[in-house]
Amino acid sequence: MAVGVFDSGLGGLTVLNALEKRLPDVPFVYFGDNKHAPYGVRDADDVYNLTTAAVERLWEAGCDLVILACNTASAAALRRMQESWIPRDKRVLGVFVPLIEALTERQWGDNSPPREVAVKHVALFATPATVRSRAFQRELAFRAIGVDVEAQACGGVVDAIEEGDMILAEALVRSHVEALQRKMPSPDAAILGCTHYPIMEEVFQDALGEDVKVFSQANIVAESFADYLARRPEFIGSGTQSMFLTTGDPKKVSARATQFMRRKVEFQSA
Ligand code: DGL
Repeated sequence: MAVGVFDSGLGGLTVLNALEKRLPDVPFVYFGDNKHAPYGVRDADDVYNLTTAAVERLWEAGCDLVILACNTASAAALRRMQESWIPRDKRVLGVFVPLIEALTERQWGDNSPPREVAVKHVALFATPATVRSRAFQRELAFRAIGVDVEAQACGGVVDAIEEGDMILAEALVRSHVEALQRKMPSPDAAILGCTHYPIMEEVFQDALGEDVKVFSQANIVAESFADYLARRPEFIGSGTQSMFLTTGDPKKVSARATQFMRRKVEFQSA
């Protein structure tokens, strides 16, 4: 049994990369729904239907435990999946909560009442669907008080990255940062709330300035997941087969993934 990692496209590779480094002995099966990316412009039902179909495919591949390395799916579909859809012997985890725990200086599963934290002004960069869901603000309110959040929906960035147009992606990131700064001139922290955005992390940091602490998910999620597996070792199976699955064109997706991962990555049709 391997562990499944899901994203609408290539963004989840940023999380996979950190997971592989943190847990080199665990086989991972990656599923990119590149045919249907971006999810960020879809409505919640659509995201739910696509995400559940992908997770079923990962279960078929022997992954009883699936990480949604996609904020849009975590924000728009995960709660609904957990309420009524996931069978008892399977687990689906999101990428949102570990990030908010890091921001609010909490250990995994610390459910104590909300309290004051160091950050006061937080800029959230995410897809339109994630921003619309307000899931970030909801999860934050469970853990922290007195934090002012300004969200910027970063239309177009995921499409540009999926197409490999990094010049357009950079221009869009800079214009979204400017738009955010018009609403919140001096954030003390910025959240990259989409797993595609770490690919552009240097541009975000440069546009925001060095005084802004940028939180990006990959390492935070890998650390939190390693902790989860240590507590629930029954989910580490004996499978050794890592795989990359896509609903898109395997050739095209493999070429882009190889570029982002800086090593040869071969996708096959899901
Ligand atoms: N990587 C996905 C996320 O974290 C991108 C969503 C999209 O496909 O728009 O939200």
